[in-house]
Amino acid sequence: MNVRLFKPSVGKEELQNIEKAFERSWIGLGPTVNEFEKEWANLVGAKMAVGLNSATAALHLALAIFNFPEGKKVLVPSLTFSSTASAVLYNRLIPVFVDSDPVTLGMDMEDMKRKYDEDVVAVMPVHYAGHPVPMDELMTWAKEKDLRVIEDCAHTSGALYKGKSLGTWGDVGCYSFEEKKIMTTGDGGMMVTNQPELFKDVKAMRWVGIDKDNWKTAQDYVDANRDALHWFYELNVLGYKYNMNDLAASIGMAQLKKLPKMNARRSGIIRTYLDGIKDIKGIQPLLPYEPEKYVYQMFGIRAEKRDELMIYLKSKGIATGCHYTPLSVQPLFKPYGGNCPFIEKEVNTFITLPLHADLTDEEVDYVIGKIKEFYN
Ligand SMILES: Cc1ncc(COP(=O)(O)O)c(C=O)c1O
Repeated sequence: MNVRLFKPSVGKEELQNIEKAFERSWIGLGPTVNEFEKEWANLVGAKMAVGLNSATAALHLALAIFNFPEGKKVLVPSLTFSSTASAVLYNRLIPVFVDSDPVTLGMDMEDMKRKYDEDVVAVMPVHYAGHPVPMDELMTWAKEKDLRVIEDCAHTSGALYKGKSLGTWGDVGCYSFEEKKIMTTGDGGMMVTNQPELFKDVKAMRWVGIDKDNWKTAQDYVDANRDALHWFYELNVLGYKYNMNDLAASIGMAQLKKLPKMNARRSGIIRTYLDGIKDIKGIQPLLPYEPEKYVYQMFGIRAEKRDELMIYLKSKGIATGCHYTPLSVQPLFKPYGGNCPFIEKEVNTFITLPLHADLTDEEVDYVIGKIKEFYN
């Protein structure tokens, strides 16, 4: 057995869509990106969605649009991937690390409130592994303090919290389509908002400063552009090369159709894991998983003798991981942190187990069986 930890679920539907882009011979920023953005906005119930080459780019731009003065502070969880806090540094702002809630592993609301001061301008909740941060509570507090809210939804896609999509509670929501995520475009990301005025410069910012749709220009070349200035554009904002391209969007359009089925499969696997491990002494599920309600990118456990179990599973061909070393102890971020005592200790019990839509029942049973064997 060789059980993978994550795996993109891609096949002939994605290939057929790529073929269409080839036939059109338009594989950069183009009509499929536009189409994918519309579909994504519909899926999550946002007024506007912009496709990017990663969630890292989305997080960078999500902060950049507010033009915060250099040196202001942003509250971010310590338990997250580097991108959440790197986006803060890209914008010459200061990350303030927040400890995790012991149960949900999202931002601990009390610690967040304790770490707030007058220099804080924004907060970036991460729906860790797909488990929702209580956005109703967070938004009430953020409004009181007049803070902007950027949701990092890299671990969830299209899930509802109290009837509203994650990613649409805050001012901006950022999603990831990197290959290990709930759905993929190879690499890719999306940012959404229900306040379109916030995104007035975002299309230029993701396209080296050019606020013009090349595809549309090409279509309009004969019909609409009767003067000689079809080539003209003006640079008004500092832009990055962050656009999604039509090849990625072609994969995304096929993945979108499969998303409900892939999510149902993930939920089924998590239910099997929960049932299978419930009587094993020495381990507990990482989170209060509700797989029938939310969409999870990762399944993990808190385990006694964590390292020995990891080595044992490795010897049986089962890939595992640990998500993540808290950023507050990473050398890059240490100058800003070192003050999230709960998660910095607790993470040493975490193991991420295999979870992806193509995982077979046989593989899931094998993983559960090997964990049982280890503790017996
Ligand atoms: C919580 C979180 N935020 C952001 C990202 C960045 O996503 P991307 O790889 O699309 O830039 C990741 C990727 O792993 C992530 O886990």
